[in-house]
Amino acid sequence: MTRYQHLACLLSDRIEQGLYRSGERLPSVRTLSIEHGVSISTVQQAYHLLEEKQLIVPQPRSGYFVATRKATPPMPALTRPAQRPVEITQWESVLELLSSRNCGDVLQLGSGMPDLTQPTLKPLWKIQSRMAQKQDTDLLNYDSLLGVAALREQVARLTIDSGCQLTAEDIVITTGCHEALSVSIRAVCETGDIIAVESPTFHGTMQTLRGLGIRAIEIPTDSVTGISLEALELAFEQWPIKAVVVVPNCNNPLGFIMPEARKRTLLTLVQRFDAAIIEDDVYGELAWEYPRPITIKSLDMDGRVLLCSSFSKTLAPGLRVGWVAPGRYRDRVLHMKYIGTGSTATLPQHAVAEFIRQGYYLPHLRRMRQVYQRNYETFSCWVRHYFPCGICVSRPQGSFLMWIELPEAFDAVRLNTELRALKIQVAVGSLFSASGKYRNCLRLNYGLPINEHTEQAIAQLGAAVEQAMHACHIETEHASSLTD
Ligand SMILES: Cc1ncc(COP(=O)(O)O)c(C=O)c1O
Repeated sequence: MTRYQHLACLLSDRIEQGLYRSGERLPSVRTLSIEHGVSISTVQQAYHLLEEKQLIVPQPRSGYFVATRKATPPMPALTRPAQRPVEITQWESVLELLSSRNCGDVLQLGSGMPDLTQPTLKPLWKIQSRMAQKQDTDLLNYDSLLGVAALREQVARLTIDSGCQLTAEDIVITTGCHEALSVSIRAVCETGDIIAVESPTFHGTMQTLRGLGIRAIEIPTDSVTGISLEALELAFEQWPIKAVVVVPNCNNPLGFIMPEARKRTLLTLVQRFDAAIIEDDVYGELAWEYPRPITIKSLDMDGRVLLCSSFSKTLAPGLRVGWVAPGRYRDRVLHMKYIGTGSTATLPQHAVAEFIRQGYYLPHLRRMRQVYQRNYETFSCWVRHYFPCGICVSRPQGSFLMWIELPEAFDAVRLNTELRALKIQVAVGSLFSASGKYRNCLRLNYGLPINEHTEQAIAQLGAAVEQAMHACHIETEHASSLTD
């Protein structure tokens, strides 16, 4: 962190803590420069940064003032899905989301794409082009079913940071985390079985369940502590649940990190009912806290946790390099891997292994965490500024996804249709529910570049939300006057 960023951070903390109140005049540039022993231009840069984040406003010839702000929106409350196994719907909406993914002229405010523009990714291009120049035929050949050994060794090493003690033999490389999840689900379940999921949850997991004829039971989930263990226990008592799928670290879409004690209790509970845990850690390395949070897998003594992840969110999704540590389900997972893709593309595996081996991965991760955390601060200011009151907003603990809950009667699907004219799209909440709940919610990606174009899009989105909220208020009033 540079000096001016450090100073900006300090000042923004003071504003957050209420030491400088809304509308209050801030110390002059000269006073701060003397107080902190930094140059005038450092203070100016710090003030400029805070101005960009809309925390302070300049007033000609009077200095800087703390911006008069709307109150921070509350966080979404514990969700309340129907607690019985359901067939999964929403495929058509997922397909629509996927087909709009690469429409160049539409700004995807809700995608799950990481920022691919940072300079710390450049060595990956060089490594790949050097590999291509060598024309080594091994790189064009099949590799083993387990995946490239050099990559499995690197992955095993990386998992030490999440508390695991794995070796290369414990890892199976997959085509993205998507395949890791799908082979895991197929390894532990059969058609007609029931799996418990957080609610809301990643649509890819749910569509996999749908494709396999597995029903999902959506468990209430809190935006701070994660899946409700009490509700999960009740569900276990009522239904023959084979596995629980969770994203406990930097959850998609709610952003929480499940506290360690709850991770332990979850494992004990699942052990009691002799089920499996499919743990999706695809965002775990993007947690802002240091050291990064542990995985449930690190607590697992009897091999019932299948840990799934990939380099899609930390490096690039187009590499399609993921992995699973399947524990006691290794043979089944290998079989499912074989009947699914046979083996994962060889060249990207070598490229990722080299990127890590040459020491580029950890600095890249550090940078991405900083970029996303800074972006989050700006995005949450924009949301507070441009969105109407009466919304709830998640406070993610890492990664780049934010969940916004609007009043119950709000229809985000309709909003998205209207947003087409503005060439903006969001991810609508119903994608994240088996039964189409959360139509009043949306997911935003704050990994997008912080520039005028993005700010303008958020401003347009905020205005569209406000208009739609007003319209649905009128409709609700009209409906209730008809029933009165
Ligand atoms: C929670 C979660 N798991 C898995 C995936 C799929 O990852 P991959 O692109 O590596 O297949 C995603 C992608 O959005 C995700 O959000």
